[in-house]
Amino acid sequence: MSGDALRRLSGRLGGIAYGGDYNPEQWPREVWDEDVRLMREAGVNLVTVNVFSWAFLEPRPGEYEFGLLDEIMDLLHAGGIAVDLATATASPPPWFSLRYPEALPVTADGTRLRHGSRQTFCPSSPAYAEAAGRLVERLAERYGDHPALALWHVHNEWGNHNAHCFCDTSAQAFRDWLRARYGDLDGLNEAWGTAFWSQRYGDWAEVLPPRATAAVANPTQRLDHWRFSSDALLALHRREAAILRRLSPGVPLTTNLLVTLEKKVDGFSFARECDFVSVDQYLTAADPEAHIGLSLDADLARGLGGGAPWLLMEHSTSAVNWQPRNVAKTPGQMRRNSLAHVARGADGVLFFQWRQSKAGAEKWHSAMLPHGGTDTKTWREVTGLGRDLAALAEVRGSRVAADVALLFDWNAWWALEMDATPSRDVRYLDLVRGWYEALWSLGITCDLVHPGSDLSGRRLVLVPPGLCLTTDADAASLAAFVRDGGHAAVGFFSGVADENDQVRLGGYPGAYRELLGVRTDEFFPLREAETVRLSDGSPATVWTERVEPRGAETVLSFAADPASGGPVAGHPAVTRHAFGEGTAWYVATRPDADGLRRLLGRVCRVAGVAAAAEVPAGVEAVRRHGPEATYLFLINHTARDASVPASGVDLLSGAAVDGRAAVPAGDVMVIREHRPGGSTAAG
Ligand code: GLA
Repeated sequence: MSGDALRRLSGRLGGIAYGGDYNPEQWPREVWDEDVRLMREAGVNLVTVNVFSWAFLEPRPGEYEFGLLDEIMDLLHAGGIAVDLATATASPPPWFSLRYPEALPVTADGTRLRHGSRQTFCPSSPAYAEAAGRLVERLAERYGDHPALALWHVHNEWGNHNAHCFCDTSAQAFRDWLRARYGDLDGLNEAWGTAFWSQRYGDWAEVLPPRATAAVANPTQRLDHWRFSSDALLALHRREAAILRRLSPGVPLTTNLLVTLEKKVDGFSFARECDFVSVDQYLTAADPEAHIGLSLDADLARGLGGGAPWLLMEHSTSAVNWQPRNVAKTPGQMRRNSLAHVARGADGVLFFQWRQSKAGAEKWHSAMLPHGGTDTKTWREVTGLGRDLAALAEVRGSRVAADVALLFDWNAWWALEMDATPSRDVRYLDLVRGWYEALWSLGITCDLVHPGSDLSGRRLVLVPPGLCLTTDADAASLAAFVRDGGHAAVGFFSGVADENDQVRLGGYPGAYRELLGVRTDEFFPLREAETVRLSDGSPATVWTERVEPRGAETVLSFAADPASGGPVAGHPAVTRHAFGEGTAWYVATRPDADGLRRLLGRVCRVAGVAAAAEVPAGVEAVRRHGPEATYLFLINHTARDASVPASGVDLLSGAAVDGRAAVPAGDVMVIREHRPGGSTAAG
């Protein structure tokens, strides 16, 4: 992966990519001309086609019909709209499941799923891999050098619905994967700890995926099944990618990752197999601060690509249709959402989908062109966003530079949320979000990165609570970072186990004990809704533990009085340890939002990390750095006008900003900043 492929794509488009999924097969031919005319009116320059077209492309086994797609590709090309061409493998047609019933996925309780929705196939099925491969070959041969083709879109959201299959074919593939990982059954028995509960395997045939069983399943068996399942999908991705690279060389490819929408596939491993990262991001309607979740996903998208610009492949203009209550966006919210992605490194803003469907499972999902047509709030905002993005053309290619890295790991996420852990309230995303939110509200930008990534160049590394699995190498890398003068803060229940989810003995938090200069001998998770007080009076929930300093100093304790200090009243809750040239903090509880913001604010100050700008609460500030200028994005999520220190030119309005930017309630400014020796002239 390199930044070049996306730079070439946005160069071809002449700016930031703008568009969405386009599904013309759902509409009569006469609608298509109107589509292209309206796309041009909205400033659309890139659309994703063919995502769910397999049944049209191959109506009967082995019989391919490309007339429809030929026409769509030519029409878009004539209209000056570039195409992100999907490989159409995400929804095999009904004939596929009748012809290959063994290729249908089976759930843990033995139910074989049937066609009638989408993505209904077993990831380990040879019949699926071959049929998908044949289709991709035909597409690549036919359209590999079509002038409209700008990008290949491999599959669609790998594993969204079908990541885990428990059928016999999957069982055999799982065994092969385990053999490659452990070599022999002794290795597997050791890693899985099968001495426990008489689970010792004497023959590979006895090894199963974790099908429904009577009591708590072996956690390492389950963890390995998550890993295997992600790898099985990755193998399918590689297979498609190899075909495209062979038959359509030079055309970049990507696949739309789910970031935190679903935990089923390891985003880092997929990102490595793409020419650039693309992601889908949807707001959680029930979350009153869903824009912070958006930022987290965007910073993860950037982290997946090593800091390079990335593409927002899908988000929504307004409500989705798959949450319990699908809340529509308020006026201006879509614009703020889209531009927040650009602020955080997106060089393209696409939606699901162009024209709102009138039939099918997603007919109540918003789109760029709603059921009501062009005389709608959504359409007016869509054309407005097109103008905004055109005004930001020069921003493409510039990069967000973050002094802070926040470690994020799918393996830990999988392991943490198994059964039989110390507390069901220890939920990975929840904890990561808590720490992320503290930084967000301080105006500090971070990259979410893999624990094994290169940490040099950072000032501060955050390990939010719950990074329970840690390899020796990753723990050593964090220790070396601090020893060399870096700063780190580690949250509870991190480093407690190795990569096989086996506990690191000798006291918690295992892998980080020496770095943090502490040792914990027992955890005291709190009851549901139980609150304890810290020595500064602030409340904390979810977790406490008996921390014994071993070189670290105590920064905050649990209150001395057991009535408010909880089960470990008077013991350290937050510690700080001078380690080599740097400092390592340990946070052994979950402070409330204010307490965590104060604490991480202090950690940032000590580490010398500064905000992108001094902003009032609820105003987002992020800076992108280009070769000629820096761009300060100011997004006012509040109902109050805000004033932020800044100078330069607002690219969205063309207005000069001299000393202070007045950002109206709900509005956005993108300021090309004064730089010593640089120019700020508009236009
Ligand atoms: C996903 C899929 C799309 C559509 C949207 C709806 O992102 O990729 O096909 O189903 O969800 O939000």
